[in-house]
Order: sequence, then structure tokens, then C-alpha cells
Amino acid sequence: MTDTPDSDIRRLIAAAKTAAANAHAPYSRFAVGAALLMTDGSIVQGANVENASYGLSLCAETVAIATASSAGRLRDVVAVGVIGGAMDADGRATGTAPVSPCGRCRQVLNEAAQMGGRDIVIHCGAAEGKAVASYRLSQLLPAAFGPADLGIG
Ligand code: THU
Repeated sequence: MTDTPDSDIRRLIAAAKTAAANAHAPYSRFAVGAALLMTDGSIVQGANVENASYGLSLCAETVAIATASSAGRLRDVVAVGVIGGAMDADGRATGTAPVSPCGRCRQVLNEAAQMGGRDIVIHCGAAEGKAVASYRLSQLLPAAFGPADLGIG
């Protein structure tokens, strides 16, 4: 389905689970972790950061992309792993359904995809269990508007 080796998919999902443990999600009690596989094989993580002014909350994928961009690595994103689920009493994500990026995060991921000239692969995993659904960003956000439309990239 995609060209991410199974070992990298496992690394991405494991890193996303680790990241989710640092979610700041006291309002929704829904923890999300994201992990970006970079061209050099390294991984950049992010977790959702909610805010008392609810609408200011940031999704895990957006935090991960901002972290990569801040390190000058926006063009280097190859694949993404995402997991999420309702928190238990200890703040750990639970649930067996794969979580896929929200619409805003798809657009944020598209900035990295177009700047890097690659159709990023997104591996959506569950907080618990092994279920993973994999997509290309072009499947999740067809006919995307991006930097190329503004003559950039
Ligand atoms: N969330 C993410 O972090 N990523 C997504 O793609 C979907 C939603 C977060 C936002 C909010 O903190 C919580 O999940 C519930 O919507």
C-alpha cells in the first residue's frame, strides 16, 4: 500500500504513543501523539496542546510540523504516525480505533509535503492494539491548495 518499511511504521506508532503521554488535553481528555519520519531516519514528535480558551488548542500533527519547521526541516518529512484516544484516569490514551488527521492538520501537512516535493504517507494507529490504516496525503486531501498555488516551492 505504501513504501514505508514495516519497521519504520512500528517506530512511528511507538513514537506517537510516547508523544501522546505528554498531551496537554485536560478539556477534551483526548490525547493525541504524532511522529514524523524524516529523510535522515530520525523522528520528530508532537502532542496536542489544549488551551483554556478552547479554540486556541493545537493538534499533535500541527505541533510536530511546527517543531520540524523550527529546526529547518519542513522539507524533510517523509511519513507520519498518529495515534489518539480518550484518556484514562492516569492520562493514558485508550481505544482501539485508528485516529486520522483532522482537516486543518491535513492542510498543515500539505505545506511540508509540497515544500518537500513528496506525497507524505500517513499511518493512523490506535492507542491500544495493532490496527493501522495507511494513506497518502493526496488521498486525504485531494486537489490541495498549497505553496505551489502561490508560486512557492
Ligand atoms: N486532535 C489532534 O491532536 N489531532 C487530530 O488530528 C484530531 C484532534 C486533538 C485536538 C483536541 O485537543 C483533541 O484531539 C480532541 O479533539
